[in-house]
Amino acid sequence: MLSGKTILLGITGGIASYKICELIRMYKRANADVQVVCTPNALNFVTKLTLQTLSKNNVAVEEFDIKNYNPEHISFADKADIMVIAPATANTISKIATGVADNLLTSIACAFTKPVIIAPAMNCNMWENPIIQENLRKLSYTILEPESGYLACGYLGKGRLCKIDKIFDKTVELLNYKPLTGKKIVITSGGTIEDIDPVRYISNYSSGKMGVALADVAKNLGADVTLITTKDVSKKYNIVKVKSALDMKSAVEKEFCNADCVIMAAAVADYRVKETAPQKMKKTDDDEINLTLVKNPDILKEISAKKEKQIVVGFCAESENLIEHAKEKIAKKGCDYLIANDISRKDIGFSSDYNEVTILDKNGGMKKLERADKMTIAYKIFEEIYGKE
Ligand code: CTP
Repeated sequence: MLSGKTILLGITGGIASYKICELIRMYKRANADVQVVCTPNALNFVTKLTLQTLSKNNVAVEEFDIKNYNPEHISFADKADIMVIAPATANTISKIATGVADNLLTSIACAFTKPVIIAPAMNCNMWENPIIQENLRKLSYTILEPESGYLACGYLGKGRLCKIDKIFDKTVELLNYKPLTGKKIVITSGGTIEDIDPVRYISNYSSGKMGVALADVAKNLGADVTLITTKDVSKKYNIVKVKSALDMKSAVEKEFCNADCVIMAAAVADYRVKETAPQKMKKTDDDEINLTLVKNPDILKEISAKKEKQIVVGFCAESENLIEHAKEKIAKKGCDYLIANDISRKDIGFSSDYNEVTILDKNGGMKKLERADKMTIAYKIFEEIYGKE
């Protein structure tokens, strides 16, 4: 995804520095060249050896390396396509905002003319300090604001480094890697809701997070995205809110003919209540009650049968014999790809921010994607689908 791109990754002295190891791994997995530049204090939190091993490059800290003819701050600034400073301390932010260039990182920032991302992390009182806020406003950079939660210093407030995948995602976006430009991608997400009466329904535990991650990534890669979802989502792409499987079917059908790719990440209820009661059902004297359920249409199977140019991708949620069931399902549904995930595991899948999936294709190919955050999994799914075109 980032082949041929050089990322200058500035790390400053905050406890969140250790999280940047994962960011380096994500950049490397995406084939970027990563040049780490640390402030001297950053090395109190994370070792040079770790950063060098992960980035597969020397880590630069000091301004002058007499072996090197070039003024380093200028040669680094020239070589990189983007600069990412994460975590960015209040100190480094303020120095950059006021043009102070007293170490290699701040010198490079001063000379850097391409996009810069700053991901601050600090104590909540420091974050709210009007001086720091004013300094941030002076920077014409992309600021990824910190998140709220428990901070390493024991405070509860805003100051935690934002999620690593957000930094990764923004990097890809700013590097203008848009291989899906001109493609219309339709994604479904969330569990469908099948009404019993005006106050009760049948649904499932799907959080819709995988579908949103796919939609976010597709958008970042330049696609024209429509997310058909049962959840409340507010994003900068087209959202179609639906409730039941029948609503979802109509929404998918409406988008289908203009779509280049449809990804059914939604957990569609296989059955719905035969007759939804128009009024709240009252309790009776009987100890049992029977609901008659009727089969919902299989949206994935129906669109797979109709596809012309479209690439159709299904998801397959299984709690046992994952691969065996997935192989049967891709044949039965007739889709091009099936993303199989094991919902019996608590550390991935439903409701989790992480997933581990196996991608099956219609020709019998299989590829396992190791456990990662859903955003990374989403990138790899698109890489698998469109990398082969
Ligand atoms: N799907 C669909 N319409 C349905 C049921 C499922 O389009 N009525 C889609 C899902 O969005 C998913 C894929 O089919 O992409 C597989 O869903 P899954 O629940 O794993 O399979 P089912 O076909 O429902 O089979 P089962 O529940 O028996 O495993």
